[in-house]
Amino acid sequence: MARRIVVLTGAGISRESGLATFRDADGIWAQVRIEDVATPDAFARDPARVQGFYNARRAQLRDPAIAPNAAHLALARLEREHPGEVLLVTQNVDDLHERAGSTRLIHMHGELMKARCMSCHGASPWRADIAPDSACPACDARGRLRPHVVWFGEMPLAMEEIGAALEACDLFVSIGTSGNVYPAAGFVAEVRGRARTVELNLEPSEGASLFDEAMHGPATQVVPAFVDALLRGA
Ligand code: APR
Repeated sequence: MARRIVVLTGAGISRESGLATFRDADGIWAQVRIEDVATPDAFARDPARVQGFYNARRAQLRDPAIAPNAAHLALARLEREHPGEVLLVTQNVDDLHERAGSTRLIHMHGELMKARCMSCHGASPWRADIAPDSACPACDARGRLRPHVVWFGEMPLAMEEIGAALEACDLFVSIGTSGNVYPAAGFVAEVRGRARTVELNLEPSEGASLFDEAMHGPATQVVPAFVDALLRGA
């Protein structure tokens, strides 16, 4: 039985909750270009367009029809019932892991339901649209709020804590991610040989050959099955 587990998730775990992934045929990057909405340059060039992109995704996430699925719930159960450490590192900016009950959770790409102030640098809970004159809840500065989301070219969050957890883990599970974006895509190479590595994904990811084991299928099927087996001591 593994003692210290690190789980990495990507957009695939939220797909069956109704949120689009990024690189599937019907994904977000098939609708809009990264360079136009997900870089600091895009925000400097056309802040209204970037805010509009994230306001639309935040509005979708407020829709009560968008809820945690069996895969999110299985990971929350793993955290509750596993006798050792479980750290969930997600690339996702949705709040479905929290709503499923996960607490040992790091959002390395930020959170859609938070706004970050470019004056005081504080990140505050924020469920509404960010408007051009929205005021920071912490320092009251107006018109200084951006999405608390890590854009391409920016440093992901909590990388020291993630690095320490990868260093100490004896089981690494990657779920619903295509293995296209670093540093997350490089985590398996950091731990392989030292930890048991498992990929749970709809189809083999870019990094599939680096994993000891894989279960391919929809997350709502393969993740609960894997967690059940793990908690039975497999
Ligand atoms: N169950 C399991 N896996 C699925 C499902 C499903 N129902 N549907 C799709 N997938 C898989 C796809 O096969 C793909 O491998 O989920 C993966 C999604 O990959 P991406 O769309 O690239 O999303 P992700 O890996 O999370 O992207 C990483 O890139 O664009 C940036 O910041 C963004 O956090 C994102 C990062």
